[in-house]
Amino acid sequence: MKQKIINVEQSEYWNEKSGPKWVKNENALNERLSILTDEFFSRVKIKASDKVLDIGCGGGDTTFRVSKLLADAGHVVGADISKTLLDHAKSKFSDIDTMTFVHCDAQNYSFDENYFDKVISRFGVMFFESPLEAFKNIYCSLKTSGSLNFVCWTNMMENEFIIEGMDIITKYTQKVLPEVTNDPGPFAFSEPEYIKEVLESAGFKNISVDKVYTFISTKDSTEKDAELLMGIGPRARILSEENLSSEKIAMIKNEIIKLCEQRQSGKEITYKACLNYVSANK
Ligand SMILES: C[S@@+](CC[C@H](N)C(=O)[O-])C[C@H]1O[C@@H](n2cnc3c(N)ncnc32)[C@H](O)[C@@H]1O
Repeated sequence: MKQKIINVEQSEYWNEKSGPKWVKNENALNERLSILTDEFFSRVKIKASDKVLDIGCGGGDTTFRVSKLLADAGHVVGADISKTLLDHAKSKFSDIDTMTFVHCDAQNYSFDENYFDKVISRFGVMFFESPLEAFKNIYCSLKTSGSLNFVCWTNMMENEFIIEGMDIITKYTQKVLPEVTNDPGPFAFSEPEYIKEVLESAGFKNISVDKVYTFISTKDSTEKDAELLMGIGPRARILSEENLSSEKIAMIKNEIIKLCEQRQSGKEITYKACLNYVSANK
């Protein structure tokens, strides 16, 4: 692969402040995302000889999972805008011949043209400043027979894991969930029509968006789960902006723990989730 020194622009949603937060929560998140990740991999059908690009690879877990499916000719590149996350990924997965990492803004990085059999992403393509420019760039990196596959959130309100506890936070802060738009952010690609419009304009064919209802679940304690809910997504954003006293934070946490207890059955806490599994061909 060509390597190029670039100036990596930080997006509003992902900057070097997001990296350490993601690293802190990554094991907890990987556990919770395991059902949907298995589904994603069963759809992508990686072949041993594939050249694969993992966009917004974060801590590299999906990149590593691809590398385990590859044999000699196959190779996977994990690309991410966050140096913190890439350094973390490299420290976890060093010395694997079939895998490399690239620090870049995937929107405009000069990937080798006509090189990849598959471009994949788990929640890593919704943050581009210009999705059209980004997907045109990704399109160029694919071989003629290549495919794009990514998984992203559908509507925020259909994802209990994202909104659970928000009523309690609103009670203490008077702040409500932000309106979801197509602007860069976790829910930018919640609408199938918008996804199709962007991918079609970027040149892709055979575009398919499968809306799938599934689950996010964890065997963590209710206390740990409540901490995670308060540490990610719009809830975390509101809490960090509000400068609440530690007493209020503790009261919110106790109320959210009760919600987690209501969801717990046996050792498992479960949330309904809804995802778009997107695929397209060059
Ligand atoms: C929600 S995280 C998902 C991380 C990883 N795919 C996973 O599932 O664990 C989104 C990732 O996209 C990366 N990202 C955001 N904008 C990007 C861009 N323009 N180019 C490359 N990576 C980007 C972030 O740094 C972050 O690692």
